[in-house]
Formats: sequence, structure tokens, C-alpha cells
Amino acid sequence: MNKPIVVIFSGAGLSAESGIPTFRASDGLWHEHKIEDVASPAGWKKDSDTVLKFYEERYKNIQDAEPNEGHRAIARLQDKYEVINITQNIDNLLERAGCTNVKHLHGVISRKKCENYDRVEPCDYYSEGFAVKGDECPKCKGRLRPDVVWFGEAVDMDFFSLMELQGKTFAFIGVGTSANVQPAASLLNIFGGLKEKHFVDPNPPGRLINWTLWQGKAGEQLPKLVSRLLEEGTAMPPPKKKMKLD
Ligand code: OAD
Repeated sequence: MNKPIVVIFSGAGLSAESGIPTFRASDGLWHEHKIEDVASPAGWKKDSDTVLKFYEERYKNIQDAEPNEGHRAIARLQDKYEVINITQNIDNLLERAGCTNVKHLHGVISRKKCENYDRVEPCDYYSEGFAVKGDECPKCKGRLRPDVVWFGEAVDMDFFSLMELQGKTFAFIGVGTSANVQPAASLLNIFGGLKEKHFVDPNPPGRLINWTLWQGKAGEQLPKLVSRLLEEGTAMPPPKKKMKLD
């Protein structure tokens, strides 16, 4: 028999306890760096050395990091469910925890691609490995850059397939994201009609009505949520008893 499908949508908060900074916290990356300098095509055109230095720091940070209890809990869920991870994270901690189905909406830091990938006549060169200064495309001699999505670039998200998936999904879990960045954040709308929908975050987005909120860190809350899904087949709170009026 097919396993019930659980879709997990994650953001930087999932990897925070592994020592990887989030973006919008007061000590986050977007307070220390300007988005347009390090995560935009214009920034790359203006000063590719600064962009590569920014991603080199991220890459070293990720290499030193280990999956945390949140990543490991998600991997355990695969015992009973077909788990589809849709993540905004460019790290590989879900895979290293044992997750087998991970879609990286914003790319992966450990891959590189040709800077001319989106030209009218595009160059399709990709390879494994972190992009370093001086890396040249063997096909068109363009510069190689990290295979991550920058602001102003297209995200590979197929809304039609997601709507189809929504119809087959048993549970949706959002975790560790401020849900500020589109089109990724629209997943909360696409899956918002499900009955079994959960959000794990110390500071969940305010617009989540009728969601089960697990307010706290992913490494503490996800193991509890996952245990309930594995043991009881639901993690919804029990329905409130109706008061009997005479
Ligand atoms: P944000 O920095 O916007 O949000 C991080 C979220 O994680 C917040 O809601 C925090 O409350 C939460 N959080 C912090 N610590 C946590 C913990 N231990 N456990 C669980 N949650 C925790 O990061 P994202 O939502 O991932 O895009 O940002 C989305 C996108 O914006 C990123 O992929 C990146 C960024 O600009 C690009 O670079 C294209």
C-alpha cells in the first residue's frame, strides 16, 4: 500500500540549531549584508569577488555544520510516510540526516553553474563543487557562480504540479520560515486547505488561521510532532469537548 504523503516546507530556522544563521533575525545575514550586494544579478555584475566571498563563508559554515534533531526527526517520518521536502535552504543537512526526497527551491551552494544560464541563447553548463574565483565555464568561457537563486531570478516552481500534489497530500508541515519570500511562501496558501497542517517556529507568521502551531525551536518541537504522527497517525490537538447546556 502507498504511504500517506507528508509535505515539509522549510526555511533557515530549520538549520539555525546547526549553527547556520537565518536571514531576517537581528543577528541575521540581511542585517550584516545588503541583499543587492550579495544576492542579486546586479551585485554579481558589479563585484563578483564580494559575492563569492559571501558564499564562501556560507559554504564553510555549512561544511562545519551537522544535522540537528529537527532534520533527524523529518528523516524518521519516512518510516511511515512518503516525505516530500521542499526547502528554501541551500545547505544539504536534510540529505545528510537521511532524507531521500528533497527539492531545493533556492538552489544548492555545493553546485556551480555558468553565469550565462539565463541568456537568450543560454549556456547550460552545471557541475558539482563550490564556485571559486577564476572558475571559467568550459563551454562559453563565462564565469561560474554558485547554483543558488538570487533576488530577481526565477524559482523553479511548477504550480500545476503543486496543486496536484496538494490533492494527494495527507499532512503539510511548515518549519523555520518567515514566509516572506515569494513564490516559495505561496506554498502556505496552496496547502492551507488541508486539515492536517502544522507550523513549527518560535515566531510563526501571523496569518496562519486554523493551523496547529508548534511554537518553539525546530530541534525541540519537530521530534514531538513527528512522534505523534508516527504513533497516533495524527498530530492535531484533540477536539475541544462541547459544553453541555441544560
Ligand atoms: P528568515 O530569516 O526570513 O526566517 C527564519 C525563520 O526561522 C523565522 O520565522 C524565525 O522565527 C525562525 N527560526 C529561528 N530559529 C529557529 C529555530 N531554532 N527553529 C525553528 N525556527 C526558527 O529565513 P527564511 O524564511 O528561510 O532567499 O528566508 C526565506 C528566503 O529569504 C531565504 O531562502 C533567502 C532569504 O532571502 C534567498 O536568498 C533567495
